[in-house]
Amino acid sequence: MNVQWYPGHMTKARRAMQEDMKLVDLLIELVDARAPLSSRNPDIDQLGKQKARLILLNKADLADAKGNERWTAWFQAQGFHVLQVNAREGTGLKAINSAVASACQEKLERDRRRGIQNRPVRAMVAGIPNVGKSTFINSFAGRAAAKTGNKPGVTRGNQWIRLNKSLELLDTPGILWPKFEDQTAGLRLALLGSVKDDILNTSELAAELVKALKKDYPQAIPARYGFEQPNDPYQTLEEVARVRKCMQKGGVYDTEKAAAMLLDDFRSGKLGRITLEMPGEKEGAE
Ligand code: G4P
Repeated sequence: MNVQWYPGHMTKARRAMQEDMKLVDLLIELVDARAPLSSRNPDIDQLGKQKARLILLNKADLADAKGNERWTAWFQAQGFHVLQVNAREGTGLKAINSAVASACQEKLERDRRRGIQNRPVRAMVAGIPNVGKSTFINSFAGRAAAKTGNKPGVTRGNQWIRLNKSLELLDTPGILWPKFEDQTAGLRLALLGSVKDDILNTSELAAELVKALKKDYPQAIPARYGFEQPNDPYQTLEEVARVRKCMQKGGVYDTEKAAAMLLDDFRSGKLGRITLEMPGEKEGAE
């Protein structure tokens, strides 16, 4: 993560978000479908209260299809409108207009009662870094509308991108801080490559991934690397080093290199579609 979330930055991001929220009817919140709760900002429900809400389970292409269904149902049960999308490929974006219309039904009816016609819904996109906000705005708006590499809390132009006659999008997304206090969430975000983990080194992080795979996706490692996964995670890293020929000088396996390779393979989907957390499995995360 290239943004450093020291308290000053968080205060600025929160303030910018509060200002922007005054301008919009709808909050489009992006989360990473591989860890939808861990990748939510801890204060987003507070910041978005009294607004229509749409949650996009983004990177749905990298997440387990069953997991996507379970999370969709889970968020719907909390009263959110939810869609599974792949912002990179543009998959799932066609459904957004009708999801926006149903999320904003109350506002549209209120407008109609007051005789206001054809006032477009105004929406903003928000989420923690790396969930795909810029990619989403770019592909949804169909042109290079969002600047990538944006910083939190920077004064912005607040321009509206008119998507169609019934929807306008704020051009810059709300960049919010991730969950810092929840260690499990921190680990999952580090596995996704969304935050830099200062507590675990690459091998330790990869060992955590290996453990999670052994438990929930026992075929992932055998299918990719062609060996039966041993019980010991560090032995698994050695095996990856062996089959991928990661050697240090002197004929010793380079498990650090193998660990980095494994994490890369996971992040790019080469280990298959994997969801790191499922609804209801961890008390306190919801
Ligand atoms: P942000 O604004 O929320 O910080 O995220 P951003 O759009 O910069 O996206 C972060 C990374 O996630 C990018 O990859 C982007 O391509 C990727 N991404 C976004 N949406 C999806 C999706 O639905 N599916 C998949 N598979 N990837 C997605 P990157 O490696 O940082 O850049 P690049 O390789 O695209 O150049």
